[in-house]
Amino acid sequence: MAEVKFFGSTDMPLEMHKVRIIQKLNLLPIDERFESITEAGNNTFLLKNKNVFLDMLTDSGTNAMSDRQLAAMMTADDSYAGSETFYRLEAKIQEIFGMKHFLPAHQGRACESLLAQVLITKPDQIVPMNYHFTTTKAHISRFGAEVLEIIIDEGLESTSDEPFKGDMNLDTLREIIKERKNDIAFVRIEAGTNLIGGQPVSMQNYKDVSAICREAGIVFVVDASLLADNLYFIKTKGEAYKNVPIIEIMREIGHLSDVIYFSARKLGCARGGGICVNNDEIAERLRELVPLYEGFLTYGGMSVREMEALTVGLEETLDMHMISQAPQFISHMVDEFSALNIPVVTPAGGLGCHLNAKEFLSHVPQEKYPAGALAAALYIISGIRGMERGTLSEQRNPDGTEPLANMELVRLALPRRVFTLSQVKYTIDRVNWLYQNRHLVGGLTFTEEPKILRFFFGRLAPDSDWQVKLVEKFKADFGDSL
Ligand code: F0G
Repeated sequence: MAEVKFFGSTDMPLEMHKVRIIQKLNLLPIDERFESITEAGNNTFLLKNKNVFLDMLTDSGTNAMSDRQLAAMMTADDSYAGSETFYRLEAKIQEIFGMKHFLPAHQGRACESLLAQVLITKPDQIVPMNYHFTTTKAHISRFGAEVLEIIIDEGLESTSDEPFKGDMNLDTLREIIKERKNDIAFVRIEAGTNLIGGQPVSMQNYKDVSAICREAGIVFVVDASLLADNLYFIKTKGEAYKNVPIIEIMREIGHLSDVIYFSARKLGCARGGGICVNNDEIAERLRELVPLYEGFLTYGGMSVREMEALTVGLEETLDMHMISQAPQFISHMVDEFSALNIPVVTPAGGLGCHLNAKEFLSHVPQEKYPAGALAAALYIISGIRGMERGTLSEQRNPDGTEPLANMELVRLALPRRVFTLSQVKYTIDRVNWLYQNRHLVGGLTFTEEPKILRFFFGRLAPDSDWQVKLVEKFKADFGDSL
């Protein structure tokens, strides 16, 4: 992809699209923001979106769609069984991944539920993976197996020069196979490791993990929900794939895997999900479950309109201008934060910019959920909604003790093609103010704690009146500014 260089200013990302439909945003005054987060139990998941200015919670189902996607939605073929829309989607998926079977599902976690049910076949099995995602782990645990995370050491270092921090540690994988081969339900690689900063996996790692699994006769599963960003990094980090067309990289990953599943809320900028399978037996068993849990095999819980949008969205994933937009904005944000000495995960990954709350709020112990507290504080002072990705997002151990997360992150997701550069600059400005005033931010404690996926619905309270003081300081510094 040819780059645009600037004459009069430092380089910055340039949008290769224009905005044709807009949604009005609402930035409430700080007192109302404070009220909203209190009502939401200090959990940004429980905020009402009408009270949010910039929604950086997630890129899930919130990516902007293209004119071509919207147009395709109008051509959807409404029928319960045998819809032309499904066959168009199936053909596109087979074209880009080159895999034998495609099974539709209503979203990514539904694929995880079905795969766990099919691939976990006996008690006490293990699932080695580079890193877990919340719903992945919840489904694997639900079927009695244990997740083993075997990411390379750099993956858990918040700052690093390692370009592919999402890689799996191959020595550890070999060791596990040597010791417990018969207990392995499957091996999973998550493209663009969500919980540790959207860090990519290298092509070499896909190849090596695939070869090791094939030799040992173990099923190799790729979670491709965040593959678009990963493809961008495979093409731009290093020389090997620089000139290889995106479709060839996707087909190569398809060739290396037994199963690829994805959330179409992310990959393909639509809503839905799907599982691509090379192995006939696995496909057959999944085929029995899809109609039971998801819907008939030609829609699997997706609306026909979304399937049309997904087909076009997947095709647009082959366009470097499309898949570069979010990573370039994220990289811009990370560079600006680094210049201000604000702790962020480096190198810049996909999905979003990740603030390192452990360092940002080094005075708040992990038991007081620093990432949750930082997300609540950021909303109060800016109307920006980020997401806690730390200890709150973990599940308690069966004995009730709390596993402290490896990283305490606040994710500022940049859904693709949604925000403008001035909105990114506003975010940098407010985070910078918060960093200068970080000593005012305290911790949180649970007032209501659900047993499963507690970060979605849990409610918390500040451990002192720190939020009142934060609001006072904001007003002192900004006067009547929103
Ligand atoms: N795998 C990964 C890597 C994900 O990031 C997600 C969702 C899923 C699976 C589950 O897919 O939401 O369609 O059921 N991540 C969202 C997020 C929720 O906000 O990061 P889903």
